Amino acid sequence: MIAPTLLTQRATASAILVFLFVSVAQSASSFHPASTTTVTRPAVSGSCIPSERKALLTFKDSFWDRAGRLYSWRGEDCCRWKGVRCDNTTGHVVRLDLRNTDEDDWSNGLILSTSEMSPSIVDLHHLRYLDLSYNDFNFTSIPDFLGSLSNLRYLNLSAANFWGTLPSQLGNLSNLQYLDLAYSELISVRDLSWLMGLPFLSYLDLSTVDLSSERNWVHAVNKLPSLQVLVLSSCGLNNTVSTLSHSNLTHLEVLDLTFNLFSSPLAHNWFWDLTTLKKLFLYDCAWSGPIPDAFGNMSALESIVLHGTDLSGNIPTTMKNLCNLQELDLYDININSSISELMERLPKCSWNKLRKMDLHCANLTGELPTWIGHLASLSYLDLSENMIVGSVPDGTGNLTNLNYLDLSQNSLVGHIPVGIGAFGNLTSLNLGQNSFSGVLAEYHFATLERLEFLDLSSNSLKLDLHEAWIPPFKLKKGYFESCDLGPQFPSWLRWQTDIVVLDISNTSIKDDLPGWFWTVSYNAYELYLSSNQLGGALPEKLELPSMQAMDLSDNYLSGKLPANLTVPNLMTLHLHHNQIGGTIPACLCQLRSLRVINLSYNQLTGEIPQCSVDQFGFSFLVIDMKNNNLSGEFPSFLQNAGWLLFLDLSYNKLSGNVPTWIAQRMPYLEVLILRSNMFCGNLSNQLNKLDQLHFLDVAHNNISGSIYSSIRSLTAMKYSHTSGLEYLHTSWLDDYTGASISMSIKDQELNYTFQSTNNIMLIDMSYNSFTGPIPRELTLLKGLQSLNLSGNQLSGTIPNDIGILRRLESLDLSYNDLVGEIPSSLSDLTFLSCLNLSYNNLSGRIPSGQQLQTLNNLYMYIGNPGLCGLPLSTNCSTNRTNKIVQNEHDDASHDTTYLYISTSAGFVVGLWIVFCTILFKKSWRIAYFQFFDQIYDKIYVQAAVSKAVLIRKFL
Ligand SMILES: *[C@@H]1O[C@H](CO)[C@@H](O)[C@H](O)[C@H]1NC(C)=O
Ligand SMILES: *[C@@H]1O[C@H](CO)[C@@H](O)[C@H](O)[C@H]1NC(C)=O
Ligand SMILES: *[C@@H]1O[C@H](CO)[C@@H](O)[C@H](O)[C@H]1NC(C)=O
Ligand SMILES: *[C@@H]1O[C@H](CO)[C@@H](O)[C@H](O)[C@H]1NC(C)=O
Repeated sequence: MIAPTLLTQRATASAILVFLFVSVAQSASSFHPASTTTVTRPAVSGSCIPSERKALLTFKDSFWDRAGRLYSWRGEDCCRWKGVRCDNTTGHVVRLDLRNTDEDDWSNGLILSTSEMSPSIVDLHHLRYLDLSYNDFNFTSIPDFLGSLSNLRYLNLSAANFWGTLPSQLGNLSNLQYLDLAYSELISVRDLSWLMGLPFLSYLDLSTVDLSSERNWVHAVNKLPSLQVLVLSSCGLNNTVSTLSHSNLTHLEVLDLTFNLFSSPLAHNWFWDLTTLKKLFLYDCAWSGPIPDAFGNMSALESIVLHGTDLSGNIPTTMKNLCNLQELDLYDININSSISELMERLPKCSWNKLRKMDLHCANLTGELPTWIGHLASLSYLDLSENMIVGSVPDGTGNLTNLNYLDLSQNSLVGHIPVGIGAFGNLTSLNLGQNSFSGVLAEYHFATLERLEFLDLSSNSLKLDLHEAWIPPFKLKKGYFESCDLGPQFPSWLRWQTDIVVLDISNTSIKDDLPGWFWTVSYNAYELYLSSNQLGGALPEKLELPSMQAMDLSDNYLSGKLPANLTVPNLMTLHLHHNQIGGTIPACLCQLRSLRVINLSYNQLTGEIPQCSVDQFGFSFLVIDMKNNNLSGEFPSFLQNAGWLLFLDLSYNKLSGNVPTWIAQRMPYLEVLILRSNMFCGNLSNQLNKLDQLHFLDVAHNNISGSIYSSIRSLTAMKYSHTSGLEYLHTSWLDDYTGASISMSIKDQELNYTFQSTNNIMLIDMSYNSFTGPIPRELTLLKGLQSLNLSGNQLSGTIPNDIGILRRLESLDLSYNDLVGEIPSSLSDLTFLSCLNLSYNNLSGRIPSGQQLQTLNNLYMYIGNPGLCGLPLSTNCSTNRTNKIVQNEHDDASHDTTYLYISTSAGFVVGLWIVFCTILFKKSWRIAYFQFFDQIYDKIYVQAAVSKAVLIRKFL
């Protein structure tokens, strides 16, 4: 994840820098030779010097020009060729600009087709400007001969796929003013001492060049007295020096040391004397210690960006002097102070310049100061007295330029001051994930005309907005999760026709979902409306061309699914826990991008559409349709679902054979739940190849055949949590899988999160018609935690070495035709908290052992007349007496338990399950009860993370 972030950040930084240094570039390229004395030739319009034309053509020939960018390089007058510029007076080529302006696509650039750039370029003796950036030099090295272009002022070789070490001959370019080698991560530099030869250099960008072995970099750049911009981002630097005896960098305005490996205290650094600095980028390094007092000396400073460092503590009081401050980014720094203390320390003299304040996740406490936003500008509003509390500190200007304020994920409390509504330039306001309380009314938003991003989520805020209120803003992204927007559906949303992301989940809305909502969200790509009491039906026709993720789960929606659904980009659809009836419309088959679909807990009937086999299903990762009334056969489009991880069709009325292609067509299945349907056929082939499967529940169907030894192929279940499973998962899967899942176990609806690190390994084949023996190979599945084969017609003995399944917590083999003795290895199962062997034909002595003794439950052996020993009160000393005692015991126990056991088998099963559930290992119990919390936590953690990323991209 670091790489894209880094690129985005870098792109932003370099955009600023490019903007700043257009002037440098221009001065370099428009250099006028008036000062030189060799003007002999009269201006020859429309001609170029033949030797230079030849040099250019030779140079051109060393490239493969796929996009025809040098198409114009023909004819006599090379001065008219694209990218070439000659001096009007002398006719010499002075400028060669071959930058590939399509920076995103290298294929539009030139590709070097020889082993080195053509040396003919050095024949352009008068060249002042050379830009070869964003072309592809095919991992060749930067040639030494570039060092002989002694007239060069401007050299840009950035992002050009060069490789190797940087030639020190560049130090001969004594007129150079601008040198850009950014995005050259395959270039390394051992020694920068040649920089000494570039006394006029004012711009130097070496970002991503590997400087890790240049320990003297500070002294090397200090030899550049003209330097204005120094960018050394992502250079692998880890050392710095605390002072310089004499600093040459008296003109430096921009210093970018981001994304390096420094871990020393930030305060001990050579650059704190550089009072000319306007931009100091220090983020994403591991700087330690407090935020240095020395910031106070840098009165020209415009940006303080310190996120991604290990700094801690409040900003120093010395910052009062920074009257040019425009941007303060302390995201993720442990400020550990009250927000008012922090704001007191901000330079008041710069308040009308401050544009951006990012204090996300900065450990801030307390209430927002009531003077925030300077109430004066709200004076035209009729404000009731109690809102104007607190006084504006002296000398405070308006924060009139503030357009970005992020205070999210802190511990801020209290009401949102009404003055927040005075930030008329605010485009992005993030107050999410704090403990704000109270009511927000129309006047809080009074002048926020430019607001595009608003996050109030995870606070105890109530939005009390009049039904007829027309907001001054048009949001693009609005996050209100867990605020109180109800009970009516917020009618002001009607005006938010620019919305692309909206989260109003869990916002106490008890109303019908209005039809206009779908018009308003026409351009949206994420909608989260879950956990309200939204009623009504979905429209019959729904067209959302951009929609990617839609969550309407956990509401009271009724009616049918839209028969006409145009959401071609939909990837995630959550409609679970509603009251939607009718059939699943055939238009589902048009949702080719679907990855996650959860329709569980509705009242859907009819068949799952048999979407035409070769078009639909390729992108599925998760399908959950449990607890509906679906009928018909196993959906055939799943033959396309080659990436499917999770399939739950349980508690429906599906019938027909379990298809024979499950393993072949869905080889990555991790969870397969077909429980409580009417499937028949047999399963043996399926087990052959599903080597990622760790949760198999086909209970309560009519599946027959034997449990073949192929069960050994369930490789995933051979590992325990710590040793094996992680490797099966890739991180991109986690993004999707956390979003949904519940699973059922035994007869109760018990739920799990489907997380890569917390896989539950379970096989439940109970209440089917399986026959034959329990294969010995089952004992290879050493990770197995729960095994239920009850209610079948399994015969033979219990495998002797069942005790190998050390992680087993639940074992149910009841209601089969098993014979023989209970293997003594059963007592090795130290985690076992749930055992049922009742109603078989087992005989002999019940093995003893600590765990079995603690279970000590009569019912787990009942219905096996041949068993003896504890906990049965029969002893096994002689077979004869044994039998008699057992019978007596049975008679006796009938007195007390008859009702439970004989008349209501179902009830016994129920009891049994409760009993097991209570006894289950603590971690499991917690998993059951926290299921919903975890799911929603995870969704919103992700939402928060992606929000953070998006904010950063957005700006
Ligand atoms: C040189 O030629 C360019 C392009 O034709 C023109 O824009 C520029 O003004 C000329 N400069 C001088 C000094 O003649
Ligand atoms: C790039 O270099 C490789 C190896 O040196 C060579 O095989 C390949 O043809 C070159 N690519 C082009 C476009 O010339
Ligand atoms: C300052 O720059 C000049 C010119 O490059 C150089 O000679 C001198 O050594 C530099 N001073 C220091 C302390 O590096
Ligand atoms: C800094 O990097 C160099 C070169 O990679 C390495 O030898 C040195 O141990 C590193 N020092 C620290 C403090 O990490």
